[in-house]
Parts: sequence; structure tokens; C-alpha cells
Amino acid sequence: MLSSNLSRDASGVLCFAGQRTDDLAAQYGTPLYLMDEDRIRSNCRMYRKALRESFEGQALPLYASKASCFTQMLRIMAEEGMGLDVVSRGEICTAKRAGFPMERVCFHGDGKTTEDIRTALQEHVGCFIVDGIDELLALQKEADALGVHQKVLLRITPGIDPHTYEAVSTGKVDVKFGVPIETGQAFEFVRLALAQSALDVAGLHCHVGSMVFDEMVFEDTSDVMLDFIALLQKELGFITQVLDLGGGYGVRYLESDKTMDIAVRIRALSEHIRRKAECVQVPMPYILMEPGRSIVADAGLTVYTVSAVKHIPGFKSYAITDGGMTDNPRYCLYGAKYTVLPVVASDEEATAVFDLAGRCCESGDILQPAVLLPAGLRRGDLVAMCTTGAYHYSMASNYNRLGRPPVVMLREGKSALAVRRETPDDLCALDI
Ligand code: LLP
Repeated sequence: MLSSNLSRDASGVLCFAGQRTDDLAAQYGTPLYLMDEDRIRSNCRMYRKALRESFEGQALPLYASKASCFTQMLRIMAEEGMGLDVVSRGEICTAKRAGFPMERVCFHGDGKTTEDIRTALQEHVGCFIVDGIDELLALQKEADALGVHQKVLLRITPGIDPHTYEAVSTGKVDVKFGVPIETGQAFEFVRLALAQSALDVAGLHCHVGSMVFDEMVFEDTSDVMLDFIALLQKELGFITQVLDLGGGYGVRYLESDKTMDIAVRIRALSEHIRRKAECVQVPMPYILMEPGRSIVADAGLTVYTVSAVKHIPGFKSYAITDGGMTDNPRYCLYGAKYTVLPVVASDEEATAVFDLAGRCCESGDILQPAVLLPAGLRRGDLVAMCTTGAYHYSMASNYNRLGRPPVVMLREGKSALAVRRETPDDLCALDI
């Protein structure tokens, strides 16, 4: 199967993290987000070990909480010794509730408001990733007013094409994030940052994109960054202590997707960086990485109940579910591909082609076109969508006033709610 946490029991029922998904659906209802806690933890450990060993202890992974953020998740990240990348007061608040050590939190985002900046300063986040000059000056002003000294990294755009889809490509010169090297603006950004009395510039940040499979992308990015670091050392006498290379390693959504050994990649990357640092004669910086998807994606599975089956002879068949673009907007947004499995039938019985649709009031509400499911599929049957741990719960919406599904954590044969199902009353709770 696609991932080692998926299996079928003797009666052909789909199991996830060793537990029967039909039983979980009966207990918690559908649509249902399941998360395999052991997988989340083992992904964290893989990153921590690979970074520690490859960079001789001088590296740390920060979990990109935008991939999936709720209190229980951030507690796990704290327990696993991860750092944390947050982008809003909501994520900071969640980190606080989870008891996440604030000194390991980095505050990202290209549009931080004054209120965001103040909150993060008051909560003593470890580091700001400053996205540009407007934020730099606003942060200096607020930090000065509060009488605090804030550690910062400066977000630089290296001008690298990550060969991924446009919406998640963030390293090219003309993106909205960071400050580009190519135009000379990054150099001026660093010079200006060094002149700010309330800010301590620890180093640089870059993030070129998400779902990156290309072997060379991180190597090329580090080359550009280390050349820039060498320039800063020569021209400004500035020593870059920290280099944050962002997130982005891809995961498998389909059997045909490439398998990537991230630990092997990190090892190769560390050797590349070490050689380059020697070559341009700069001290080896402390390395940060910000994985999101590759920590949680394969730890997630979504279970739906089929509400209706429609055959349009000569055209297509629809399997309409009780979920949709509200719990997973990724096909609508990116044309994202997924593996869809029947919960109770065997995979061999899945021979009929269906468009798996949602219940929202627009024709574009498709979860996945042309999936194979049993020809006899009918109302009440369960279907599962794989690799839904990243950017599903966190991107869910309430379109059509649909409540978001619960998140259930699976661990060592037990299940427990981590986020309860949103009710119609929850949805009305903010109405005056
Ligand atoms: N660091 C920064 C600054 C980021 O912007 C991102 C993702 C990450 C780290 C984590 O990247 P990852 O390891 O998860 O690839 N909603 C899209 C993905 C957007 C990614 C945004 N930034 C999706 O569903 O595919």
C-alpha cells in the first residue's frame, strides 16, 4: 500500500495505524480526519537525528505549523524537541496553550500587523523572520517601545525555481515573500537591519517552495545563500550565524510518486554546504529547516461516507461524499492528486471510475476525479483518502456553513479526539 501505516485486515477492512477505519468512522462519525501519532513522532525523530548527525549538532528542524496546527499537535512537537514556525497570533496562541517553549518559536509571515508584532514580542518568541523593510522598521519601533532586544533572521529571496506548482513556489525573484538578492535589495536590507538598535540579526532565511523533489533545489539554494553570506562578510563584516533553509521536501500522494529518503538528502546537503562554506571562506552557520508536509502528511487519512451515487450514462459517475472542498480544498486549488480507497471492499474490487465529489453547492467541488471504486458502490459506503495530514485540517473552511470534521489521534491501538467536530451552534457562536 501507499504507506506502511495502511493495511487491510483478514476481512478486507482498511486499517490505519493498525486500527479498523470502519470502527473509527462508527465511533466518531464522518467526515473524519485520522492522525497516526506514532508516524508524526517518527517523522520528527528522523528529521532531528538526520540534522543532528549531518551538522554535528549544529542544526534544528522547526515544524511548520501551517501544515496542521492544534494544541495536541504542538504538544507532540514540543515533546519531540522540535522548534516551531508560526505565522499568526492564532498559531502563537496555540503554541502557548500547548506549553511550547517560546524560545524555540520563529515568527514568520509577509504581512505581520502591528498587533501581531506586539503580541509576538510580549510572548517572547525566540526569533522573528523579518520579511522586508516595512516590517523591519515597524519591529524596531515596537521592540524599542517595549524596551526589548529581539533576535531576527532576514528573509531573503534566492531566485531559485523549485520546479513545483506555482501557488507554492516561493523562491523566485518576483514572489511576494522576502527581499531578492538579484536586485541588490537584499544587501541594503541587511545593511539597514544591522543599524537597528533593538534588533539582533542572527542570520538569514529562505524558503523556495513546497513539494520539492528535485535533487538540486536545496543545494542550489544553499550555494546562492552562501555566496551572499560571503558578500556580507566581505562588505559589511557581518558573520551569518544562522541559516534557515525553509521547508519543502515532497511526499507521496500516489503509488507512482517518487520515494525520497529525506535523511539521505539531508546528509548530502550537509556535505554540499560544508564544501561550499569552505570554498567561499565563511564559518559554517547553524542550520534550521522548516518541514511541514513531510512531518504530518503521511500521518493523515480522511474517511468519508458516500451520500449518493450518480451514473450519467455515456458521461461519468459521481460518488458524492459527506465532505468536500471544505475539508480538503487542495484539488480545487492545485489540482492535487490523491489515492482513494474503499474502506470495506478489497482493492481488487475497485474497478469502476468515479469522480469523488463533495457536498458543497458548486460543480467544482471535486475531491478527486477519476478514482477507482467498487462498481456496486452505494449510499452509506465508506471511502478513505490517503496522505491527508498536511494542509487539510489547517486549510478547512466553513463554506455552506459546514462544520469542520474532528481530528482523532491514533496511538498504540487507542484513539482519542484531539479536535472535536464543529457543530452548527459553533458556527453561529460568533454571530451578534
Ligand atoms: N517554511 C515556510 C516559510 C513556508 O512558507 C512553508 C510552506 C514551509 C516552511 C513548510 O513547507 P512544507 O515542508 O510543508 O512544504 N497549502 C499548500 C502548501 C503551502 C505551503 C506554504 N508554505 C498545499 O496544500 O500544498
